[in-house]
This record gives sequence, C-alpha cells and structure tokens, in this order.
Amino acid sequence: MAINHPSFGAMPDNRVIIFDTTLRDGEQSPGFSMNLAEKLRMAEALAELGVDVMEAGFPIASPGDFESVQEIARTVRGPVICGLARTGQADILRAAEALLPAERKRIHVFLSTSPLHMKYKLRMEPDAVLELAIASVTLARQHADDVEWSAEDGSRTEPDFLCRCVEAAIKAGATTINIPDTVGYSVPEDMTRIFSMLLERVPGANKVVLSTHNHNDLGLAVANTLAALRAGVRQVECTINGIGERAGNAALEEAVMAIRTRPDAVPYQTGVETKNILRVSKLLSTITGFDVQPNKAIVGRNAFAHESGIHQDGVLKNAATYEIMTPESVGWTKSTLVMGKHSGRAAFRDKLQAMGYGTLGDNKLNDAFRRFKDLADRKKVVYDEDIVALVDDEVGRDHERVRFVALDVRAGSRGPQRAELELEIDGTVLHAEATGDGPVDATFNAIRTVFPHDAKLVLFSVGAVTEGTDAQAKTTVRLEEGGKMVDGQGADTDTIVASARAYIHALNKLLVKRARTEPAALSA
Ligand code: KIV
Ligand code: ZN
Repeated sequence: MAINHPSFGAMPDNRVIIFDTTLRDGEQSPGFSMNLAEKLRMAEALAELGVDVMEAGFPIASPGDFESVQEIARTVRGPVICGLARTGQADILRAAEALLPAERKRIHVFLSTSPLHMKYKLRMEPDAVLELAIASVTLARQHADDVEWSAEDGSRTEPDFLCRCVEAAIKAGATTINIPDTVGYSVPEDMTRIFSMLLERVPGANKVVLSTHNHNDLGLAVANTLAALRAGVRQVECTINGIGERAGNAALEEAVMAIRTRPDAVPYQTGVETKNILRVSKLLSTITGFDVQPNKAIVGRNAFAHESGIHQDGVLKNAATYEIMTPESVGWTKSTLVMGKHSGRAAFRDKLQAMGYGTLGDNKLNDAFRRFKDLADRKKVVYDEDIVALVDDEVGRDHERVRFVALDVRAGSRGPQRAELELEIDGTVLHAEATGDGPVDATFNAIRTVFPHDAKLVLFSVGAVTEGTDAQAKTTVRLEEGGKMVDGQGADTDTIVASARAYIHALNKLLVKRARTEPAALSA
C-alpha cells in the first residue's frame, strides 16, 4: 500500500527517501565540526545533490547549532530540513523555533529503548520510557506535521517492547519511525528480522515510513542498510563519506550507488543526482581537512584506477570488464587534463559549471580565475582536482579579518630558516620577519608576530592534490584555544604558502568563535 507522507505526499512503493545526517551525526564526531559558513556551503551542496531530508543539527546542543539549523532552514530550499531533539520540552521547542523559517520541516525526537540504555543511561523503567515517547511525539506534532521518532539503540531493544514503543509513537503522530543500530552491532539478518517483525506485528507500521540508521563499527553499515530496504524500509539515514560517531554512519554514496547499480537486488529509486557525489565528497574533505582513504568505494582516488596490465587491457577493450559503474556517473571526469594558461574567463566559468560550481557569484569567480591564472603560470598541467582545490580554498572566505598577502622564505640545510610575511589585518597590511625550526615553523612564527595570539597548533598535515613535483599541496592546520578546536585548509603549489593559508584560515575561524562567545575580545 502506498504511504501518504505529510512532506512527500503519496510515495511510490519503490521510492527511497535519502535522509542525510552529515551536518548532525557526521558533524558531531571528533575533528569534523564545521562553522556556520561551512555548514551552509555543505547544506547547499547537499540540496544540489538531491537529498530528500537534511538533518541540519541539534538545536539545543549550543547557540551555534541553533543558529546553523535556523540559517539552513531560512536559506536552503529543496530538502525537508530536520532538527534533532531529545524528549524534553525545551529540546522540542528549541528545534521547532530553529525550524520556523523552513519551507518544509521535520522534528526528529529520539529516546533510548534498549534494556542497557534504559537502566544505565536513562535510569527509567520501560513503562515510563513508553509514556515519555508518547508525550514527546505528541508535543512535536503540535509544531510540525512531519515528525520522526527514533528508538535509540533500537537494534538491541527487546522485540515486544520495541513493538509497543513503535505502536505508541505512531498513534501519537510520528510519520517516520527510525530504528537505529546505534552501536553498529547488527548483521544484515538482524535488520530483516527487526523490520519484518514491525511490519507484521505493529498496526499502522505500513502507513508510516520505516527508516534505518546504521553505524559502521563492524564495517556493516551499508550492508545493514540494504538488508533493511529489502525488509520494507523506505528511508535510509546516511552521511557523505560515511562520517559519523566512532566508525561512522552508512556512506550515502555507497548506499545510493548500490541501489543504482543493482536494480535486480535492490529495486528502488532515489532522487539523488549521482553526478554531484564526488564534488560533495571533496567539498566535505576540504572543509574538514580529512581526505577519504584512496581505496574508499565510489569517491576514493583509486576507486576507478586500474593499475595492473591485465585490468588496463580489459578496460581499454570494454570498460565494463572491470568497472561496474561509470566513473562519470558519480562525477569523475574522463579527461583530467583540462585547462591551461591560455584559457579565458568564459572557459573557466564553463568548466566550473560542468564541475557543479554553477552558483559561484561574480566576485568569487573573479578571485578564483585570478588564482587559476597564477596557478597555470606555475604549473605545467592544471587538472580538475587543482581547480576544485583552488575554488574550495577561495569560497567561504568573505569577511575574514586576517588575509594572506605575500610570503618569502629562506629554507634549506644552512639555517636559520627565515620567513618574511605580509598579512592584511582588518584592511591594514602588516609585515613581519621570523626564524624557526624549518620554513613552516618560521612562517607560523611570523604569523604569530604579526597577529599575536595564544592558540596552540595541535595538528599540521600536508597532502598533494594531484601527482608530480609541481602538484598543489593541500594543508590542514588545527588550532586549539580554551578548549575550542578549529581546522583550517590551504592549497598552493608552494607547500609553505599553502601552510600559511591553512594557518590563517584556522585563525579566522577561531576569531569568529571568539567573537560569538566574547564580543569584546576581537583583537588578537
Ligand atoms: O545513532 C543513533 O542512535 C542516533 C540517533 C540520535 C538517531 O544518531
Ligand atoms: Zn547515529
């Protein structure tokens, strides 16, 4: 029987809702926190990707979380915007308030139902938990037609109690029922058993959307997701690159491409524009500073690379011999060699559009084009990856107080290594020189001289955007100040310049954080 959903209307039986929680479950894992501007960029990209529901955050968690959910609800169009809440009134009202500007909104209420969680985490008896589930869903429904209820640690919940809770949540008005495998303990057979049981035993379970949310502690998140789909689930909760608590969540790109590649085994449809997958994956890596591993399915550097002679020979004769999907279908472009120093602004704009950066404003386009020309002068070949790194490095840096102007370094074995640096601070160009233990250390010391601050450097990493000695370096710098942690990224053919850019990027983020909590402390 077709489900009539408040946000999606009459849903075809084979349509799967993609619920993306990159900005909530993904963002809450260590090292993946994002600021408002970064969350907005990700949210726009997720909307262009075609996710159906975007969990934008947990509004009660912090003023920053509230603000980002509210801003996403105000500006992002397309997906249903969702906010997470525990069962308390304050949580639900805070989520409702943050979601007010949304065109379509969902409140997502969660409550633990497993014996372990009820006893040790909630310290509540099952009957009281059941009552709380009913009260919280009832309250959430007063603020949204679209309400999701999650049985936290649902996969380890006693079956009779799970059925009672789900039945009560549906009666109270939940329109989506999510059974998370919170600790990633399940195997695919568990998913089949749990969802088949709910559909068989719970009145009304076939009239709401059943949802699956799998953590990857045993590396089974996507396998469990597909098993749940086969058992009647119609919403998949997932994240870009599989980020999330501990070992992460089911990876959106893997679940979506499994559905698309194997219609015989998983005969469903999603609304995802798969050509945008790679771009969103790379954007997330750029923002967070964490690359996916080279062999990561779909989006890893080696996912479509063929090294062995036998494989290369097969692919040249017929790509299907060793490729089960085309690289283009997920956004890899065939000819990686793209543009050179003679390419004009119009060609550059076309290229950006083809790579999914169609919405870049004129100012950003001009800045990116200027940096592209500079890069093309210095680098023999400019690859798509170079342009992505450069544009991602440029976008989202409006309103930065500290800007990189110029850097000269003396490096090599005959120390001391020295850096001469120019920065623009609040519109004034300042200059400093410093020495250090290597050129990067000297550069960071020069930044500290121009702009004194107490933040500690806790991580510095360098990777290459493409291959070759003239490849752009992509650097990440993590700074910590008073328990606040920020990551900055930079890209340039000169590793030391990329490092300076990453440091300055992190510093600017720290200043934004500081300004939020202590507006008077705006100077360094
Ligand atoms: O893993 C989990 O149980 C969750 C819930 C909040 C849905 O993330
Ligand atoms: Zn989770």
